[in-house]
Amino acid sequence: MNTFVWQYIAVPQNEMHSVQQEFRKKLPDNTAYFQNISLDITHFLGLELDYCVLIQVPPMGGLENDTIHTDIIEPHRLPFALNIPLENCDESITKFWKAKKPIAVQDTPEGVPYNHCKEEDCDQISELKFVHPFIFNTGVHHSVSNPAAGWRRGISLRFIEDPRILLEKYGSLGQPVYVDI
Ligand SMILES: [Fe+2]
Repeated sequence: MNTFVWQYIAVPQNEMHSVQQEFRKKLPDNTAYFQNISLDITHFLGLELDYCVLIQVPPMGGLENDTIHTDIIEPHRLPFALNIPLENCDESITKFWKAKKPIAVQDTPEGVPYNHCKEEDCDQISELKFVHPFIFNTGVHHSVSNPAAGWRRGISLRFIEDPRILLEKYGSLGQPVYVDI
């Protein structure tokens, strides 16, 4: 099946700054990899937010491709996320993978279920540098690496509706990546 994987999106600077400010107001004092953040806003770019996630990767984290996973998506939710950089994201790489066999569900150290995949059980299909906001399919295996000296903090917004309509509304940067999965 030809599956949408990711595409950069041209989010207006002022909108990007406003949601970054909302996250900075609520930034937790911990180093959890994945956590939901409760914001004071209900919408972003005119779309209703479902939930908002902070992803934190330590300096030199993920370089061994040891964080490959798909997010667990409840059946009534869409797998598409809008990711926006918060801190130290310019050097960060998000890689996308195709699993060679079915993967068992595991928990993260914080108790969040994730579909982890070992590198030897996957083939890499694409990658991006986190230099622009992007929309991606969290149901496709992905991993984050941070070769920088500071903590990489990224925002991941999940919406009630499909955020890919924002690609038409605000414009895209480059072509969408589709892969036969
Ligand atoms: Fe993820």
